[in-house]
Amino acid sequence: TVMAGRPRDLEGRKVVISAGGTREALDPVRFLGNRSSGLQGYALARTALARGAEVTLVAANVSLPDPAGAKLVRVESALELRDAVLAAAADADVVVMAAAVADFRPAVRHDSKIKKHSGAPEPIELVKNPDILAELGERRRAARQAAGLDPAPGPGVPTGPGAVSGSGAASDSGASAGSDRSPGSGVSSGGAPPPYPSVIVGFAAETDDVLANGQAKLARKGCDLLVVNQVGEGLAFGTPDNAATVLVAGGSPVEVPRGPKEDLADIVWSLVTARLA
Ligand code: CTP
Ligand code: CA
Repeated sequence: TVMAGRPRDLEGRKVVISAGGTREALDPVRFLGNRSSGLQGYALARTALARGAEVTLVAANVSLPDPAGAKLVRVESALELRDAVLAAAADADVVVMAAAVADFRPAVRHDSKIKKHSGAPEPIELVKNPDILAELGERRRAARQAAGLDPAPGPGVPTGPGAVSGSGAASDSGASAGSDRSPGSGVSSGGAPPPYPSVIVGFAAETDDVLANGQAKLARKGCDLLVVNQVGEGLAFGTPDNAATVLVAGGSPVEVPRGPKEDLADIVWSLVTARLA
């Protein structure tokens, strides 16, 4: 794919992209995983680099060539991915969550290989992983509301001790307020307020009621854009092509016909730059 000829409209912007799929360990040799290849996330990284961005690529179990010029952070589990994304998001303009994050992980990670013994297998107990995308959206919502930028405060929102220095939606890295109340969160209990990115993008693969499920997810997660993939029929997992609908908070959906994942990536970056402006 030709990378030249793109606008340099992400020059000076820091973007964080998660890619691939998390693995949740059962023991030293086994895990629960998913079929995400990382192709879409890597296409987002290459196109963002071509458009001038400074890219941190948080890659979960991806075996693809490193995009030249990206800062690559390799992770395995959802908890590791959360730590890496939140750390990189601290001074980022944009976060794109293209990774397939396991919703659950085994409650126990055995230190030794599980043996089959004799008789019936042990059931695997699962616990919920933190929702990283929702956490980013919640940080931003709380900070904007504390800054008086959000006219519709939600219930039970803390107006914490953090002073807010942000002046608006455009360059608000580091400006935040309130405490991190996310379940499972291990950061900032009473310390500096957590920072958040200006533009937050999620991905969703839906099999049924694609648009209705997507709109509900966009609202629930508080993101700006939600790229809803149509899965099945040879699309999405492990293929070079994608077909999607990009849902836009406060705007009309954008249909992206079947084509290279780079084309979808470029449409996402164009929608992102419009929101950064
Ligand atoms: N995501 C996340 N953290 C999780 C689960 C998902 O950040 N623990 C992000 C994904 O990276 C993706 C978006 O949320 O960008 C939507 O993921 P999806 O699995 O479609 O949404 P869920 O809220 O997990 O809903 P469900 O799986 O029940 O459809
Ligand atoms: Ca999920």
